[in-house]
Amino acid sequence: MIDRNASESGTVIVLAGATGDLGGRIAGALGRRQAQVRALVRLRTPEAKRAAVRATGATLVDIDFADAAALARACDGAACVVSALNGLEPTILGLQGRLLDAAVEAGVPRFMPSDFSLDFTKTRAGDNRNMDLRRAFQARIDAAPIRASSVLNGAFADLLTGEAPIVLHKLRRILYWGDADQPLDFTTKDDVADYAADVALDPAAPRFSRIAGDVVSARDLAAIMTRLSGHRYRLFRAGGIGRLSAVIAVARALSPKSDAPFPAWQGMQYMRDMSSGRGKLFPLDNARYGKADWTNAAAVLAATI
Ligand SMILES: NC(=O)c1ccc[n+]([C@@H]2O[C@H](COP(=O)([O-])OP(=O)(O)OC[C@H]3O[C@@H](n4cnc5c(N)ncnc54)[C@H](OP(=O)(O)O)[C@@H]3O)[C@@H](O)[C@H]2O)c1
Repeated sequence: MIDRNASESGTVIVLAGATGDLGGRIAGALGRRQAQVRALVRLRTPEAKRAAVRATGATLVDIDFADAAALARACDGAACVVSALNGLEPTILGLQGRLLDAAVEAGVPRFMPSDFSLDFTKTRAGDNRNMDLRRAFQARIDAAPIRASSVLNGAFADLLTGEAPIVLHKLRRILYWGDADQPLDFTTKDDVADYAADVALDPAAPRFSRIAGDVVSARDLAAIMTRLSGHRYRLFRAGGIGRLSAVIAVARALSPKSDAPFPAWQGMQYMRDMSSGRGKLFPLDNARYGKADWTNAAAVLAATI
């Protein structure tokens, strides 16, 4: 276990994506650890977004992400470049690739890619569009002269409050595919950001850190919701994994092409990787930095009652 208070204060961390949901939380977590955060923001970023990043104590650096020399200058002196970018191929491979090149050019020792997902090192190529992008970036970074540190956290637990079709509040059902006892990894965005900050400041961080704020099955979720609400929540098996694959194929064929990172069919691909157990995180590295305040699924769901 590493003393999280022993993180070097004043360490420079370059952060891309600080105006985003997870990136803003990472900026905050780094600020609380006295890191000097250099947040790279697009030239036309609105003032409200800038103010939110500034409030974390980060220094804003306006950047043209197409300008390789400017990107390398912005990375100069950093201990780690952290990417919390979100998007499809042009962002995850294109933009993040340019950021990686800049980090290498500037001699930055470490890079954290925007992975923050289930265990794509164990899932099948072609099964999940967003995991394929991470796999492609993994090949690229592992061939680059820089150390990579990825955080894998399962699904954001915050999605349990409604965004993910798992806890169906109105119907008092827990929807699942396959096995009701399959363990599923969930971590809140704040816990992910907290841990990612520790990883960013840890020169000896492993290639992959696997974390889960809670590991629960569909059956566990039904019991949790029954206890919290005082009403019986029943399990609802939508089908097996094969049926889910068929539903994904139909949903994808019927969906108009879009640049959205998370269309419904992609959420279903994510559910498939979790429900099959292929994307399960194991073993977990939760204890590495001594973090004890993990938010469990019951605490997240209590807010919905
Ligand atoms: N495991 C899960 O359940 C789960 C769920 C959601 C997200 N995630 C992952 O978490 C990570 C962050 O996602 P998020 O939800 O925090 O994303 P987000 O809120 O959409 O923020 C994305 C960030 O990337 C920046 N960005 C995107 N395209 C850009 C471009 N072309 N040029 C410059 N900046 C660009 C945005 O800048 P602007 O503000 O300027 O647009 C913003 O700062 C991603 O890896 C995502 O896949 C995981």
